[in-house]
Amino acid sequence: MCGIVGYTGPRQAYPVILKGLKRLEYRGYDSSGVALLKDGSISVYKKKGKVADLEESMIGKNIDAQIGIGHTRWATHGEPSDRNAHPHSSSSGKLAMIHNGIIENYAQIKQELQKKGYKFLSDTDTEVLLNFIEDIYLNNDDCSLEEALRIALKRVSGAYCILLIEQDNPDTIIAARKGSPLVIGIGKGEHFLASDASPIIEYTKEVVYVNDYELAIVKPDELILKNLGNEKITPYITKLDMELAAIEKGGYEHFMLKEIFEQPSTIFDCLRGRLDAKEGLIKMSGVDNNIEQLINANRIIILACGTSWHAGLVAEYIIEEICRIPVEVEYASEFRYRNPIVNKGDVIIAISQSGETADTLVALEKAKENGAFIFGVVNAVGSSIARISDAGAYTHAGPEIGVASTKAFTGQLAVLMMIALSIAKHKKTITDDRYSALVLELDQVPEKVQAILKNADELKAVAEKYKNASDFLFLGRGYNFPIALEGALKLKEISYIHAEGYPAAEMKHGPIALVDEKLPVVFIATKDLYHEKIVSNMQEIKARKGKIISIITEGDTATAELSNDYFAIPPADELIAPILTVVPLQLLSYYVGTLKGIDVDKPRNLAKSVTVE
Ligand code: M6R
Repeated sequence: MCGIVGYTGPRQAYPVILKGLKRLEYRGYDSSGVALLKDGSISVYKKKGKVADLEESMIGKNIDAQIGIGHTRWATHGEPSDRNAHPHSSSSGKLAMIHNGIIENYAQIKQELQKKGYKFLSDTDTEVLLNFIEDIYLNNDDCSLEEALRIALKRVSGAYCILLIEQDNPDTIIAARKGSPLVIGIGKGEHFLASDASPIIEYTKEVVYVNDYELAIVKPDELILKNLGNEKITPYITKLDMELAAIEKGGYEHFMLKEIFEQPSTIFDCLRGRLDAKEGLIKMSGVDNNIEQLINANRIIILACGTSWHAGLVAEYIIEEICRIPVEVEYASEFRYRNPIVNKGDVIIAISQSGETADTLVALEKAKENGAFIFGVVNAVGSSIARISDAGAYTHAGPEIGVASTKAFTGQLAVLMMIALSIAKHKKTITDDRYSALVLELDQVPEKVQAILKNADELKAVAEKYKNASDFLFLGRGYNFPIALEGALKLKEISYIHAEGYPAAEMKHGPIALVDEKLPVVFIATKDLYHEKIVSNMQEIKARKGKIISIITEGDTATAELSNDYFAIPPADELIAPILTVVPLQLLSYYVGTLKGIDVDKPRNLAKSVTVE
């Protein structure tokens, strides 16, 4: 969480930083600020609220500077407020710093500094780290700032990406990372620093991804990378494969809506070059190059959080069905703290949109230590999870900016389906006919999603009808049970309505007590193996006067008649159906959220990339 931006070069720094913060706002938006360095003096401006509030508060201020750092915050230590916003200034006022991450042993360091007479103006761990650096810097003869930073970082535990400027160093930003991302854009006589490439893409496509335990000394025409042992490292320059249009709203009211509507093309991009429907073939280098490891896996453990975890649950059903390999799906946050049994023959599939989720990352490090083979299903190219994986497949959904994950989820489902099919084919646990039929079905998904999106207005009408409900229940069976969970999560996130997802059959073991004439119950009731069963569950809700909203297969009039409202989707094989059934649920949440006046791209308390545990 938190987004950071820095600039040093010939341009005015403030507009570059402000624009960058707006692009990074998905990472946190409870307060923001900038520090600008000019003529040996650092000016810090910060404001509670969104970046737009900062921008407004800056009107009339002197923003003339060619070096600066900026931050948009998701609070960890200290409530969202002007004083807890970043950048923070050191006691002497000589240094300013921004930080993304958590310093876990800050309390002890704070006490030590307080004993030395340091006073703190904020409740943040960042201000503690900054003064700790300054204390080392000012109280050790001949100690450079860079050296002081290195000493301080060796003492702290936790996660950080920091950018530091010094009033007497007119063109240098010092940066360091451990556990929180940092990308440096290389321009002509200028450098850009940011949490991801979105603030940089407009100026240069050449970037360096800084690794953990690395320090960067960044001047307009020089980039020095070092490790904490003060040894120089040659920066590895990567070319960004991303266009500016991909991170702009393109005429849509919200990123979330744009991303929902992008799904026909993002799923197509995900399949392109991998799935050849004519030949009935799937080629994925990450899978093909490691096929022995995958088909001989004793067990597959899927690690993920949130929506990505739901994709993992769908994958569990599919992999066990067609590959006959036992699968366990774990919340990464639980896995990392318990004492899991991981053996050499186990394959870990890590699923993550951002590739930076701290819990998933640490869980993978743990699994790796135990000798597991890690296969990453990641959206953000070059991210930490992509890099820690032994092999993987990108989802190719493009940058996802809306906090609620939509296109990344359908991309994950498409990739996981292709992985399962490839393993099954090699393992010979699927018949040729079934394999070809599923390949063909997968190929038709973009078209079917397009057909669903054409009728989006029907869901707006449903949303209008139920937007004032205080609770929702989402029910599904089999492959669509995880979609019920996902539907409930989406609605909670962006409408603040309490929602629960359940396997439909579990309803009678408790949740049915919630049902009355006010409760909307969303059924995912497409034609599949469980259809008759779920229709019985619908009857049970109807008998108790619950309001039934159903996602059904086109032409299923019987189920439509049972429902108060329904949305029909094109027919699909039950293994493929989740990629389709989730789309109306995304739209339903979007419309409920927006009709309630919520900023769905930045719902309260959330951040896109959860880089703290
Ligand atoms: O980037 P990741 O896929 O690792 O993120 C995992 C979750 O934080 C994420 O899916 C979250 O639940 C979304 N806000 C859901 O819409």
